[in-house]
Amino acid sequence: MTDEIRDLIDRLSGEHGLAEPEYAALVAGMDDEASARLGELAVAVRRAIYGDAVFTRGLIEISNICKNDCLYCGIRRSNANARRYRLTAEEILACADEGHALGFRTFVLQGGEDGFFTDEALCGIVSALKRRHEDCAVTLSMGERSRESYERLHDAGADRYLLRHETADPAHYASLHPKAMSFENRMRCLWDLREIGYQVGCGFMVGSPGQTPATLARDLKFIETFKPDMCGIGPFIPHHDTPFRDRPAGTLEQTLALLSIIRLIHPPVLLPATTTLGTIHPMGRELGILAGANVVMPNLSPVSVRRQYELYDNKICTGEESAQCRHCLDARMRRIGYRLVVDRGDILKKNAF
Ligand code: 5AD
Ligand code: FES
Repeated sequence: MTDEIRDLIDRLSGEHGLAEPEYAALVAGMDDEASARLGELAVAVRRAIYGDAVFTRGLIEISNICKNDCLYCGIRRSNANARRYRLTAEEILACADEGHALGFRTFVLQGGEDGFFTDEALCGIVSALKRRHEDCAVTLSMGERSRESYERLHDAGADRYLLRHETADPAHYASLHPKAMSFENRMRCLWDLREIGYQVGCGFMVGSPGQTPATLARDLKFIETFKPDMCGIGPFIPHHDTPFRDRPAGTLEQTLALLSIIRLIHPPVLLPATTTLGTIHPMGRELGILAGANVVMPNLSPVSVRRQYELYDNKICTGEESAQCRHCLDARMRRIGYRLVVDRGDILKKNAF
């Protein structure tokens, strides 16, 4: 590690922010020693807020039908090889019941931008879920919608919303998405969600085609400014039926370094060690926690549809029952000295970072 990088890491840790060109220099100058140093600092600051707790969210993949055509995504509209499915309200509620019995207190409903899920349909599911499990948080991850729609869903009881910004660089955004999608609308959604009162998650893929230290620096500056409650980052993994099929996957090393940097930028952030991280390395999720993450999101979807929610190749846990995943993760976290908690796991802002 050079003196310049050491200095940048010390400043980031002390001030929770850097200038955009400094983020780019930090990302470009990363090596094992710098990454280890970032990891130590990130774990210390997370431990001060959350101790050894790892929060868990039950992910229910409610539909792989999507009107969008993002170039990286296996369930994009133009992938005619994807076998499409949609869960019924009863199936969704049954997944949540099973999850509740297993100790989940947050349910994430995630799906493509499927026109079937009108406000009326989705509000009905959210309010039924909240009525059945009053002690739970409901998180939606259903893409871009109007402000009115976000308001209705919030009124129906949705607590949180995940919408990765994908990249904070407009030109990079345009290279990952079809013309019909706009960076401005993505950002509008995130700010609307925040104003309405959701806990909001943004995020991006590490190593997406065209990503550079300069585009990552914009992502980091955006995170520093927006201060998301949650931030989902994981490696890009090519899907064989997309235009990016031959592009290299993002790396474990870069993902871990970015997890640590994001923890230092915004210490209380809820930061998942993602399934993609577990897909590119057998210990990926453990290494993610050891780099500063504090959330895991095992799958609660019915086993019969898990293979079909295929955003990228070789996804793990597609043959496992929900209970198996839960116990597997429990054991994995214990082995590295952490514990999965039965808790809604809201962001702790009392330390006022
Ligand atoms: N590799 C990794 N992550 C992906 N996503 C979509 N496609 C891929 C892929 N090929 C991520 C996007 C999206 C989230 C639901 O999954 O960032 O926001
Ligand atoms: Fe956009 Fe899938 S087509 S995330």
